[in-house]
Amino acid sequence: MAPKVLIILYDGGEAARNQPKLLGTTENRLGIVVVTSDKEGPNSVFRKEIVDTEILITTPFHPGYLSKEIMDTAKNLKLCVTAGVGSDHIDLAAANERKITVAEVSGSNVVSVAEQVVMTMLNLVRNFVPAHEQIISGGWNVAEIAQDAYDLEGKVIGTIGCGRIGYRVLQRLEAFNPKELLWFDYTDLPADAAKAINARRVDTLDELLKTCDVITVNCPLHEQTRGLINADKLAMMKKGAWLVNTARGAICDRMAVVKALESGHLNGYGGDVWDVQPAPPDHPWRTMRNPLGCGNAMTAHYSGTTLDAQKRYAEGTKDIVDRYLQGKPQNPANVIVENGQYASKAYGQRK
Ligand code: NAI
Repeated sequence: MAPKVLIILYDGGEAARNQPKLLGTTENRLGIVVVTSDKEGPNSVFRKEIVDTEILITTPFHPGYLSKEIMDTAKNLKLCVTAGVGSDHIDLAAANERKITVAEVSGSNVVSVAEQVVMTMLNLVRNFVPAHEQIISGGWNVAEIAQDAYDLEGKVIGTIGCGRIGYRVLQRLEAFNPKELLWFDYTDLPADAAKAINARRVDTLDELLKTCDVITVNCPLHEQTRGLINADKLAMMKKGAWLVNTARGAICDRMAVVKALESGHLNGYGGDVWDVQPAPPDHPWRTMRNPLGCGNAMTAHYSGTTLDAQKRYAEGTKDIVDRYLQGKPQNPANVIVENGQYASKAYGQRK
């Protein structure tokens, strides 16, 4: 485990902010460690500091988008660590060209997300959000809520991607007595894991889309999943189906989702991930609703950052940095790209 480092310096205040050479201040931390949330635009701390950074630690919850162009300026960069799971905010192809290692803390928040998926499904199917809003605003109208409320029991529920999260979602859903559980993934489950759940694998995404009442997205964002759920795919879904996406916002086409929900083809869309984060105040996913005024269960990106998860991904981040500093190999489960190659099979099918 990497040691905790305590640095005691003097406060520089305004002077330190104006003069970055005031390295001996708490603000500039001897130039060893920079911590910032300022990540957007050419004058951001991210863009200024990346030029001589060797280890970049980012989090998916407030992603520092490391594009190829920004990587071109990062001459010393060797290691990108994602404190959490999901490294799509790093241009992985560009990292490979430069032999930059990208690692994440695999498994650190998969239960946190699986619980959120089940919660979001229940919220949508049982029409919880409008029911709660009605109470807060002083109302009491049972029919208005019940007209769009159903049971999860007896529904066909499927996951796109059956890795750590998708599998855990299926495990938890068994307790709700669904009609059938389905999964679509190009990767096999280990034989014992496949046997341990009462779920059927489907051969194509289209079959999953056409068959399910409730669908959850649990694959990473990569070049084969960006915009995967577009207008054509949404049209394949059953009328009145619900879609839960806690994977990555950009897997679903922004306006296609809005249109499908507003037309009533989708009865609900919920999740915590957005195609850009933080989501702008006028992002249409904040306010979209189905024709009954229901069907929106969106939140800020928080499912994988519960306090329990934060402990795990903080420890995992320290472990990755520690191994790097000591020249030890990384835990293979955490490595996304290394030595110019994809080490993970989850970021797209390749030869
Ligand atoms: P994992 O790597 O264990 O599983 C991902 C699965 O998706 C793999 O089995 C892979 O083969 C499959 N997959 C990839 N492309 C696919 C495609 N085109 N069609 C079907 N399946 C495909 O990853 P894990 O831990 O289950 O996480 C999945 C994603 O969930 C992460 O990459 C991240 O984007 C997101 N996530 C979101 C969090 C949140 O707070 N909302 C927190 C943690 C993860």
